[in-house]
Amino acid sequence: MQVEKIISIELTKEQAQEYAVKVAKENTDKTVKLVKYMGGGSFGKAVKVTFEDKKSIVVKFLRAEGMLEKETGDLTLLRENCSVKMPAVLFVRHKDERVPVDCYAMEYIEGKPMIYDFALYFASKKKRRAIAEKITEGLHSLHECKSAKFGDIHNPDCGSWREFYKPFAEQILVKAKELADKGEIKKDIVDTMQRAWEKFDIIFEEEVKDACLIHGDLNVINIMVDKSHNLKAFIDPLNSCYADREYDLFQFYNLTGKRFSLGEVYAEKYGVSKRFYDKMAFYGLFNEVYCYIKSGVLVGFIMRPLVKNMNKRLKDL
Ligand SMILES: Nc1ncnc2c1ncn2[C@@H]1O[C@H](COP(=O)(O)OP(=O)(O)O)[C@@H](O)[C@H]1O
Ligand SMILES: [Mg+2]
Repeated sequence: MQVEKIISIELTKEQAQEYAVKVAKENTDKTVKLVKYMGGGSFGKAVKVTFEDKKSIVVKFLRAEGMLEKETGDLTLLRENCSVKMPAVLFVRHKDERVPVDCYAMEYIEGKPMIYDFALYFASKKKRRAIAEKITEGLHSLHECKSAKFGDIHNPDCGSWREFYKPFAEQILVKAKELADKGEIKKDIVDTMQRAWEKFDIIFEEEVKDACLIHGDLNVINIMVDKSHNLKAFIDPLNSCYADREYDLFQFYNLTGKRFSLGEVYAEKYGVSKRFYDKMAFYGLFNEVYCYIKSGVLVGFIMRPLVKNMNKRLKDL
């Protein structure tokens, strides 16, 4: 995983909609009735296209080089191994003169991201526990898919998790220091990272036994729920690999994830390592800085609690 700023193609919502219609027409023999921008993060933009027969697909544009193969490959493999629904890839399209951004189409999932389901957020403890059970069971079904080695989803080649993760984390720290010197990231974030790095061998003293297939980005925006507030699907894998399965859990502590005790429910059902909370703090902070390095977008309301939490854990390390 390269730790550097990713060059991405500009794409407005309007362009995404226009291109989505083009590619839908090109790849189906149906008449397009409606087109709706659904959302997107740093490199993706998703558009819903509805046809005359009322069926819909989602066209997702990927604005950076190489993402198309990785994301569609990961989605296909994860879908085959996950007990929770994940969208099927329908077709893949490389950029050209007509549509100058890579994209793929996938099955449309009826529902919305869990973060926007306010009724679920305020639901009873029992209801929140019930959905947390379903989510963790689904994620654990992926984790049951194991490899002899850690690393890349299609070509894992590391004998241990440390061999894969430690050099990666170090690259993030080195790059963050460079950015701090240029005044592009606050010094206190990098100071916290440095102090956490010094405790790496303690935090990661317990050896990770299994190389498990991970989603890589299962936060509450990538978990879809239906109108009855039940779990519907997982979407949008990122950086999927064969990893420490706990590397798939720190996202549960971001945004509204804590409200559903997702990490605790997973821990209760499947067990976690001794340094679990220290690892969650380390993984969360280093991943967020990694995302910032790649995208240039710093999300303060995610970053601040992560720095605070790492500092809190460091007091006892
Ligand atoms: N298959 C799908 N069915 C329905 N909605 C989807 C689907 N894929 C994405 N979306 C919607 O589009 C939004 C952005 O898509 P996502 O794949 O998460 O992009 P990004 O990688 O930029 O986060 C999601 O939060 C969700 O609301
Ligand atoms: Mg997403």
